[in-house]
Amino acid sequence: MPIEYLTDQVLGQALQSYGSPLYVYDLDLIARRYKQLQGCLPPNFRLHYALKANANLTICRRFAQLGAAAEVSSLGELITALRVGFDPEEIVFTGPGKSRQELLAALAEGVALVVVESIGEARRLDELAAAQAVVQPVLLRVNPAYRSANSCEVRSGEADGPACDTLKPIAMNGQGASKFGVDEAAMAATLAALLEMKHLEFRGIHVFTESNVLDYRQLLAAWQNTAAIAAKLHASGIPVHTLDFGGGIGIAYNDVDEEFDTVGFGVALAEHFASGAKPHHCILEMGRYLIGEAGYYLAEVLDVKESQGQRFVILHGGIHNLYRTPAMQPASRYLRVLGKGDSPMRPAVLAGQLPTPVDVMVREVSLPEDITIGDVVAIQNCGAYGYNHSLTNFALHPYPAEVAYAGGNMVVIRDRGTYDDFFVHQKLVEI
Ligand SMILES: Cc1ncc(COP(=O)(O)O)c(C=O)c1O
Repeated sequence: MPIEYLTDQVLGQALQSYGSPLYVYDLDLIARRYKQLQGCLPPNFRLHYALKANANLTICRRFAQLGAAAEVSSLGELITALRVGFDPEEIVFTGPGKSRQELLAALAEGVALVVVESIGEARRLDELAAAQAVVQPVLLRVNPAYRSANSCEVRSGEADGPACDTLKPIAMNGQGASKFGVDEAAMAATLAALLEMKHLEFRGIHVFTESNVLDYRQLLAAWQNTAAIAAKLHASGIPVHTLDFGGGIGIAYNDVDEEFDTVGFGVALAEHFASGAKPHHCILEMGRYLIGEAGYYLAEVLDVKESQGQRFVILHGGIHNLYRTPAMQPASRYLRVLGKGDSPMRPAVLAGQLPTPVDVMVREVSLPEDITIGDVVAIQNCGAYGYNHSLTNFALHPYPAEVAYAGGNMVVIRDRGTYDDFFVHQKLVEI
């Protein structure tokens, strides 16, 4: 379903009221996206919101209110999830290196599942659980032997790889080593050891290698591979109750991207995963799809200049606020200059204010011919991996404010940062 993006008028009002740079989130769209995806999933699928995509309290609360479960990958995210009202029994704790403090917190809070990523981590968790006389349900994260040519761990080598509905052995892709999980080849031995641990209860496997996927056949192929791994385990006498497929549904970032077909995906999922006498409990940990399109990044133009025939537009912002834009090239469809939609367009480089050449937000973009200082650039689809995935401390520009828009009302959900923020926890010492 095409999205109705917020109008220039609403975004302009936001900027006027709250200043530049600014994030605006359309909470109504979050609800629509959540319900749309939820509505397409078979009944044995549970949708978890991946907090790493956007951990703002108000955003997370909205997902909890909508009925989502949660996926966290740090103690900070766990505290956030609990604070906004997610039920610990609906929280999955992932991540390739969990500290003792994090494992203890997971046990103390009684999170539903800890995804263990190595035999060492399983041992540490087992010991801590034994000390507390509890049994912790776990999933084992597996680094599968097969990937699609467009897997996020392969993409750099083979951007325009063959059809994405087929998987190739990772040896062929040349990219098999991963810091995540245990290699599929080592899975049986790892599980043999894990099943001996008295204070862990093995519930199933977690496999996540595909990210920002727009063609559902790519995800389907990867998830079928996960089911095949589970079937092999089952055949070897190890019952698998839960399959955690991670996240991965993508959103459009540039002119050539197509929208993900959730309806087609839902039909395919029902066909492949909801049948059988006892279907698996299937977990999705979605981030980008649920919050990405709801977010806007707004920044005023500070300068417009030419260099060797190229036009540069410099924003009151940059990759310290929004680091994701390299994925957006060329991004004309998702980028607009408020009030200048009818102006003739001309190529430009959209850059930020940081003192580094890296701070180019979009290298080739069409911007209005008459763009000028004081205009406001709005970058759409920035709700995921925007605010909390940026180089926030580079060059000490205060953190942007965040605003939520719902039912025609606008409210600040994070104040703009101050210069004092940069001195918190620092000690000025003479040694
Ligand atoms: C373990 C895990 N689950 C879920 C996600 C969310 O993925 P996405 O935003 O692609 O839905 C991520 C993203 O990196 C992840 O690492």
